[in-house]
Amino acid sequence: MDPRPLIIDKRLEAVKRIVAVSGGKGGIGKSSVAAVLALILAREGRRVGLLDLDFAGPSAHVILGAKQVMPVEEKGLIPPLMEGISFMSLVLFSGNRPTPLRGTDVSNAIVELLAVTIWGSLDMLIIDMPPGIGDATLDVIRLIKRMEFLTVTTPSRVATEVMKKELAMLKELGVPLIGIIENMRIGKHSVLERQAISLDIPFLGCIDLDPGLEDAIGNPDKLVETTFGRQLNSMADGLW
Ligand SMILES: Nc1ncnc2c1ncn2[C@@H]1O[C@H](COP(=O)(O)OP(=O)(O)O)[C@@H](O)[C@H]1O
Ligand SMILES: [Mg+2]
Repeated sequence: MDPRPLIIDKRLEAVKRIVAVSGGKGGIGKSSVAAVLALILAREGRRVGLLDLDFAGPSAHVILGAKQVMPVEEKGLIPPLMEGISFMSLVLFSGNRPTPLRGTDVSNAIVELLAVTIWGSLDMLIIDMPPGIGDATLDVIRLIKRMEFLTVTTPSRVATEVMKKELAMLKELGVPLIGIIENMRIGKHSVLERQAISLDIPFLGCIDLDPGLEDAIGNPDKLVETTFGRQLNSMADGLW
């Protein structure tokens, strides 16, 4: 028997809420929302953790501009603090090298990361998820009983059709859904609000397509001041 799932429960004992930032497709803003939300909450004085589980395309460290940080070993790994956020990612170990992993190896790496990381007490652990409903999504649902999902999507039908499939699966599995964020809105009207209502899922709000975001990547002070950061900030209180 693998004892690690039991260890994971213990490791997450003092974490009040565990939120997966997820969405059907790549490139829709999951990592940006996860990382900037963690930053906003940390600056509000909340105790926040950020775990990057997108092993194929880790991005949270780039968005937050991580410098040379390493976990500290102490009967497990204490995540380094980055901008006040307890941060854990495979890149802390692999650096710039790619980490191509197959299904069972993905699951093993997730179990291992969750089993070794000493998060301590947190108000919220935010998980930056890979796209879709693959191994990682199924694993976190299996391993973390209290998991909640925050769904990011763009208004494109290409993205929303995939999102609906993911939401249907999450509902079927009985996973709590915090709500939908519409990212990269163009114009002033929401495309997703009505759909969220018809799916009976809270609609958290819109983030505009923000030409200023790219310039702020890697710079936390700038990130919170972008349109992206300010619009996400206005939704943050609704999460509690
Ligand atoms: N609202 C937005 N406006 C402009 N660019 C955005 C916005 N949201 C995300 N991006 C950009 O889109 C790209 C993909 O975002 P990312 O957060 O990595 O997506 P995902 O994690 O879903 O793959 C990044 O270059 C990011 O800076
Ligand atoms: Mg990502």
